[in-house]
Amino acid sequence: MARASSARKPRAPGPFPSRVVAWQRLHGRHDLPWQATRDAYRIWISEIMLQQTQVATVIPYFERFLTRFPDVAALAAAPEDEVLALWSGLGYYARARNLHRAAREVVARFGGMFPVRQAELVQLPGVGRSTAAAIAAFASGERCAILDGNVRRVLARHAGIGGDPASAAVAARLWSEAEARLPARGIERYTQGMMDLGANVCLPRAPLCLLCPVAADCVARIEKRVDELPQRRVRGPVRRRRIAMLVVISRGEVLLEKRPAAGIWGGLWSLPEADAEASPREALASEWGLEAARVDAIEPFEHAFTHFTLEVQPWRIELARASRVAQGKPATWVALDDLAGAALPSPIRRLLEKLVSET
Ligand code: ADE
Repeated sequence: MARASSARKPRAPGPFPSRVVAWQRLHGRHDLPWQATRDAYRIWISEIMLQQTQVATVIPYFERFLTRFPDVAALAAAPEDEVLALWSGLGYYARARNLHRAAREVVARFGGMFPVRQAELVQLPGVGRSTAAAIAAFASGERCAILDGNVRRVLARHAGIGGDPASAAVAARLWSEAEARLPARGIERYTQGMMDLGANVCLPRAPLCLLCPVAADCVARIEKRVDELPQRRVRGPVRRRRIAMLVVISRGEVLLEKRPAAGIWGGLWSLPEADAEASPREALASEWGLEAARVDAIEPFEHAFTHFTLEVQPWRIELARASRVAQGKPATWVALDDLAGAALPSPIRRLLEKLVSET
């Protein structure tokens, strides 16, 4: 019977972007605090925070940040320390320093009018091609392609693209697949839909293909290569670095050192460091000009960065007398009950809060 045979025939799926858009309307995220606005400034802040950080972590940071810096002029006028303090805990602090520089550029170059076109956005520090495309799409409806980590996974699977995703050749193919799929209209919902698919359906492990609007013609699914695509990066063994940290507390204040702008925790305030093998008492005397009355080891901890793991042995130090820090050090004393407003790395904040709660 004609009816039975047509029921067996697989229905040709509609165009890729139409399916993503229809799926986003029904199943995507609609109530994120940076949605339902065309304010490029707000959208930019959200996209920078969302680089390498999950939505649930970002939301409270985004809200605090926007309350303190409601527009680009407010951000540009703020001291870097305050920007870093509001970023404290989000990690990847180069993002915050670039954000601050970019705000100053927008004020200087565009008179405080935040750009909305990809070609202009991509010139700002910390804004790459994909981030510029996302901001432009959300803020002005410009039709341009995004390719963040999640979308790369969706496209590598749907188009069946293997090979090292870090290689220029694979990246070029992925960009061209991303461009080829753009909808004629409705770029905002499509862009959000691609992000939502990557975050909630096309998961790195055990993706939810039954819920996926583009599963019917997904090459990885058809060829049973979902687990192989995208090809995993081959990582070398994790490097480890050992250091000592000096927890110098005197008269209710802790000694903090400003980290150099380049490198880990750049621009943040952290504990003074010493060689893991050095005597903390001697390091304190030679580097800081301070004399310890008492030195006690406290519980060591580890912190994983993208490229290495830091092993830290902290030393709790009581000074022989309240004294000045050696000249030329970018150092400050911070009251232990003022730590909340300081730009500290998360593990340092946790360590100090634990010490405060124990004393
Ligand atoms: N990840 C990156 N940008 C995003 C956005 N606008 N919404 C949700 N997740 C995202």
